[in-house]
Amino acid sequence: MCGIVGYIGPRKVCDIVVRQLKKMEYRGYDSVGLAVVNENGIKTIKTVGRVAEIEKMVADAELSGVCGIGHTRWATHGEPSEKNAHPHSTNKVSIVHNGIIENGEELKGWLESQGYALESETDSEMIAKLLDFYYDGNPIDTLRKVSLRLEGAYALGVLFHDAPDAMFALKKESPLIVGICDDEKFLSSDLNAILEYTNRYFVLEEDEIAVIRRNKVEIFGTDNEKVEKVESVANWQAGVTDKQKFSHFMRKEIAEQPCVLSNIIRKNIKGGAPDFSADGIPDDYLRKFRRICIVACGTARYAGLAGKSWIEKFARIPVEVVVASEFRYMDPILSRETLVIFISQSGETADTLAAARLVKAAGTSAIGIVNTAGSSITREVDYNIFLEAGIEVAVASTKAYIAMLAALYLLALKLGLLTGNLTNNVHFLCNEFMDLPEILEQLLADKEKEIEEFAQFCLKFEVVFFAGRGLDYLLALEGALKLKEISYINAQAYAAGELKHGPLSLVTKDTLVIALATQGYVLKKTVSNLQEIKARGGSVLLIFKAGLDVPRELLSDSLKLPRVEDNVTPFLTAAVLQLLAYHVACAKKLDVDKPRNLAKSVTVE
Ligand code: M6R
Repeated sequence: MCGIVGYIGPRKVCDIVVRQLKKMEYRGYDSVGLAVVNENGIKTIKTVGRVAEIEKMVADAELSGVCGIGHTRWATHGEPSEKNAHPHSTNKVSIVHNGIIENGEELKGWLESQGYALESETDSEMIAKLLDFYYDGNPIDTLRKVSLRLEGAYALGVLFHDAPDAMFALKKESPLIVGICDDEKFLSSDLNAILEYTNRYFVLEEDEIAVIRRNKVEIFGTDNEKVEKVESVANWQAGVTDKQKFSHFMRKEIAEQPCVLSNIIRKNIKGGAPDFSADGIPDDYLRKFRRICIVACGTARYAGLAGKSWIEKFARIPVEVVVASEFRYMDPILSRETLVIFISQSGETADTLAAARLVKAAGTSAIGIVNTAGSSITREVDYNIFLEAGIEVAVASTKAYIAMLAALYLLALKLGLLTGNLTNNVHFLCNEFMDLPEILEQLLADKEKEIEEFAQFCLKFEVVFFAGRGLDYLLALEGALKLKEISYINAQAYAAGELKHGPLSLVTKDTLVIALATQGYVLKKTVSNLQEIKARGGSVLLIFKAGLDVPRELLSDSLKLPRVEDNVTPFLTAAVLQLLAYHVACAKKLDVDKPRNLAKSVTVE
């Protein structure tokens, strides 16, 4: 959460920092600010609200220098307000911070005993005051002294008043990269804010301090000795972070899904069979596991649940799916025969990252299914399956979810082959999968009008249930998350058979149930459950698959998906549910890409 950026170079510093902040706004949008240093010291401007606000202020403020840092905030300590906004500056230093300081109370007491008065409610201000206290003209020594007093997670961009030709960076747990061009450099929480200028970057590792000048970057390890870093090169293009012809990133990212599937097909299917050699994963590695544990958060976890269903069906290996924030504290049972799979779009989710570090420390085998190359989780595991979805900007995850499903489906097929459970069927199941990009493209083109009409219908309801059985239930979970996340409608998902065990008491004529019926083997059971809802006055919107024999009375409000093999329907259902949530949020005139209280990359626990 929170995005930090920085720039040093010949261009107009504020303009570049503001541009970087725009790319970083999806990480938090409660407040925004920037600071610039020149030979007269540091100047800071900040405000509540979005980057557009600071852009207006920059036009009026006279801020010049070769070096600046910026911040877009997702509030953790203290409400969104100007005094809590970053940068936090003193006469000597200015800082931007992403993370959480856990010994803030203790530091506060100590700083007050040293005569410092804290103006904000943030933990971040204490870092600025500590730097001010310790600053003796040597930035590296000072940063190191301060780091030794901080507990928790931090990525810091720092300016010193008497060092106008450099910006400084320090990190522990929260991500930070330095973008490299010949005579200009960039600081950023992630690739988004540098790609427009360069695809070359250094990833800062734990406790490293970077001294970033126009023409050189020096990085120092914990003993303050210089570290030789290897440059990383991103293969993502800058243009992918523009909305192009779409009104929202979410809509654009939904439209990109057929292409995302094609990318995964190209990378992970060879000779009509699943293949992970492009990700460097040897068959012998995958062959040895008797138990799998999938760890993830939010949408990534819901993808994991579908993965469990496929792996258990195709490979008969037992799979457990655990919420990452619980995994860390539940004393997990990890054996040599266990494979842990971490799923994450950002690769930076603090809960998932902490779990990955725990698994690594235990010496247990682990792979990542991750969209962001070079991200922290990718460095904690044995192998990674990269999702090839390109940058996802909208807070609501869409194309990364589809890509996660795709990677898990193919991994399940691969495990099915390796365990000998799937020998005959694998080519058929791969072929069904390879047809999906075209079918999905057509579905998005054909069904949008119908989905928009359903979205209007949904507006009448304050409570929406999603229900289904088998894979449909797992998709219902994701559909409900998407709807609540961006439309603020109270949406809950239930296994259709569970409704009668409690939730049915909530069903009245004011209840809408979005029902999924794509799995032939449980169709009759699902239909009975939907009739129970109708009998109690509830409205049902049915999403079903062509070829299934659905009773006429359920067809009045329904949407038909093309006929595909049961196991691959999630790829189609997901897209319909995403579009539905999108159009409901648009109809409610909400900020689709930046829903309230949320952020894209959740880098705090
Ligand atoms: O970056 P990650 O995939 O690790 O993020 C996990 C969740 O925070 C994320 O999927 C979240 O639930 C989405 N905003 C849902 O659309």
